Amino acid sequence: MGESALGGVQVCVFDAYGTLFDVHSAVGRHAEALGPEAMAISALWRQKQLEYTWLRALMGAYADFWQVTADALDVALERHGVGDDALRARLLKAYLELAAYPEVPVTLDRLATAGIDLAILSNGSPAMLEAAVGHAGLDERFAALLSVDALATYKPRPEVYALATERFNVRPDEVCFLSSNAWDVHGAAAFGFRCVWINRFGQPAERLPSGPVAAIDRLDGLPPLLGLA
Ligand code: LAC
Repeated sequence: MGESALGGVQVCVFDAYGTLFDVHSAVGRHAEALGPEAMAISALWRQKQLEYTWLRALMGAYADFWQVTADALDVALERHGVGDDALRARLLKAYLELAAYPEVPVTLDRLATAGIDLAILSNGSPAMLEAAVGHAGLDERFAALLSVDALATYKPRPEVYALATERFNVRPDEVCFLSSNAWDVHGAAAFGFRCVWINRFGQPAERLPSGPVAAIDRLDGLPPLLGLA
């Protein structure tokens, strides 16, 4: 896929969790305490977190992403028979201090140098996003941290993606949206963004309408796609 697929892009909008920040780094820090099921717990935590966002959006029963993240952790810990309140508290705290993927800062710098506006558009609550961005030292890089919380619903509702076009006063096709979450890519593409799927784990393409104009395995593949050396 050449740069023409992304010609005319004014703004790069990034999903947060899984795309900029490694959601499994929270459990990773406490893997020893959780034992051999640590990574299974992490996977279930993430799966339940996403399911609860979709279900709450469908039910019209919004609770913010911090609540959803805590609820998802609780069900994951219970399913794996972990009843340690102090460990639960440490895992939740670690979610505010997730590791950024190593190529993130240099990629953001490259885009900013080229004059492209950068933003996050995430399910994360404003406090969660500020904590994650601050902990990773990325505060200066984003013109906006856009949260679904302003609308009290979740991705992939189209009005969520409109937060970005409204903030930057651009058309959907002037936005390049980056996510490692394929379902989020399809939702954003259905809204009209030009999407690049950061397929970090070599997943097969989803069978959903709309889709990415390109797929790359790490964020540092983005500047060349935009015609930047
Ligand atoms: C987010 C979730 C989808 O950051 O990862 O919005």
